[in-house]
Amino acid sequence: MIDIPAYRRDDAGAPPTRFADYRSTALRSPSLPPIRAPQTLTEITGPADCWDRLMGPSLADLTAQKSGAPIGQRIVVAGRVLDEDGRAVPSSVVEIWQANAAGRYIHAKDSWDAPIDPNFTGAGRVVTDAEGRYRFVTVRPGAYPWGNHKNAWRPSHIHLSLLGPAFATRLVTQMYFPDDPLIEIDPIANAVPMPYRQRMVARLDMATTEPDWALGYIFDIVLKGRDQTLFEEGHDD
Ligand SMILES: [Fe+2]
Repeated sequence: MIDIPAYRRDDAGAPPTRFADYRSTALRSPSLPPIRAPQTLTEITGPADCWDRLMGPSLADLTAQKSGAPIGQRIVVAGRVLDEDGRAVPSSVVEIWQANAAGRYIHAKDSWDAPIDPNFTGAGRVVTDAEGRYRFVTVRPGAYPWGNHKNAWRPSHIHLSLLGPAFATRLVTQMYFPDDPLIEIDPIANAVPMPYRQRMVARLDMATTEPDWALGYIFDIVLKGRDQTLFEEGHDD
């Protein structure tokens, strides 16, 4: 029996796969208990420490991917990936995707009345360093309507995906901003009970803030154990 590497989930804080106020979970949540599928050796052992080589150049600065600067409030989002004992998790792929400052994604299914920014893709990717650190420069995403219920608006948020030492260790979460009143009325955020929900809210940090240039937010990600960040199951709104 092969020991499959997977991050332990904190059941008390994990969002349920079906959450009535988050309407689309009714159709996509499983109605039967999950069946554990056998995993291959490649899935559970690879690629270990060679993410840097596989991923190519890092995409750490989302404000410098095009010929001009994107519109919006420039921000730094940084933090560490840690395990449950507070140890750094190096060589983890941290990918982000987000709406632009007007709340619009570059996506075929996003067509609401907000402008696309030709200088902003909304996609970034870095690999954590030896201390588990990551850092992105981006713009603060805008809120957007999402049709879950009458007058439903998502809070400003950044989606994050983490890949640990193996392909089987992918986790997905969202980061929110500490001054956003939409969080407490957002069904996706509210699928995570308090106090766990607060772990998905970044912290304004003046040491990360760069004078005359960008506000800085800290968002540490804990992969398992008592202080873990809460991860979602196949949600993409
Ligand atoms: Fe989103």
